[in-house]
Amino acid sequence: MINGWSSTEFAKAYLLSTPTLIQREPSYVAERLLNYFPDNVRAYIDICCGTGDLTAAFRNALNPEVKVYGLDINPRLLDIARDSDTTNSINWICADVMNWTCPNTFDVATCLFNSFGYHKRTCDNLTFLSHIYDSLNDKGIFLLEVPDREAVLEKLPLQDWIKTPYGYLLSEYNWNKKGSWLRITRVIIDKSHRLQFSIGLKLYTVRGLRRLLEKVGFRVLHCESAPPISPEQEETDRLLFVAYK
Ligand SMILES: C[S@@+](CC[C@H](N)C(=O)[O-])C[C@H]1O[C@@H](n2cnc3c(N)ncnc32)[C@H](O)[C@@H]1O
Repeated sequence: MINGWSSTEFAKAYLLSTPTLIQREPSYVAERLLNYFPDNVRAYIDICCGTGDLTAAFRNALNPEVKVYGLDINPRLLDIARDSDTTNSINWICADVMNWTCPNTFDVATCLFNSFGYHKRTCDNLTFLSHIYDSLNDKGIFLLEVPDREAVLEKLPLQDWIKTPYGYLLSEYNWNKKGSWLRITRVIIDKSHRLQFSIGLKLYTVRGLRRLLEKVGFRVLHCESAPPISPEQEETDRLLFVAYK
């Protein structure tokens, strides 16, 4: 599972490879998502912030008085986030969303770039969402980005490889018959190593995820194509749900 991945050798090699793989411009992404933030935001949290590059881009774009938090289960990724936080003003929280709440605290919460759906059982994914719901203030906004199931099933190649400065990065994608569970296997090969890691992700239909969000109490404003990750990208294979408490 993803939660243990950053303590692996694979993670080190993968993090070195991701700039080539992702080519994301954090400030470009943050700028687009800021359109959904209310004017009077006082506290913002990035749930599943990983190495925190998006969290930092939000920090830079928001008024310095806004309190910014980044939460992730993985201490190794948070170490990287903390080290790259030049503002020294982001509150990094190491916690598992499944066991965490901070009732009525945040005006905006984001959960971005395929960070939701790691549980096969829908009741567990509901728990994950309900903890975010509880942590928002009344009328707090939640931005949730997920893979676009239709695009994944139609367009995602079964296998793919790219050359990175670290070595070759191979990706293999498999899904079950119902198209509800995606398994991603990545292999990194350089001259002396072969490192491999797999994760699974639940693929919800738009209607299915809307129902889930509503079940925990969210009101879903809309669901649209997620913003591109750079000016070069024309369309994305991710969806953005905009919901509020
Ligand atoms: C695909 S990465 C995305 C990271 C970040 N949002 C980004 O855009 O770079 C998913 C992140 O979710 C974190 N994660 C997974 N399950 C979690 C949980 N239950 N509680 C907190 N963090 C979790 C992982 O450690 C990982 O950093």
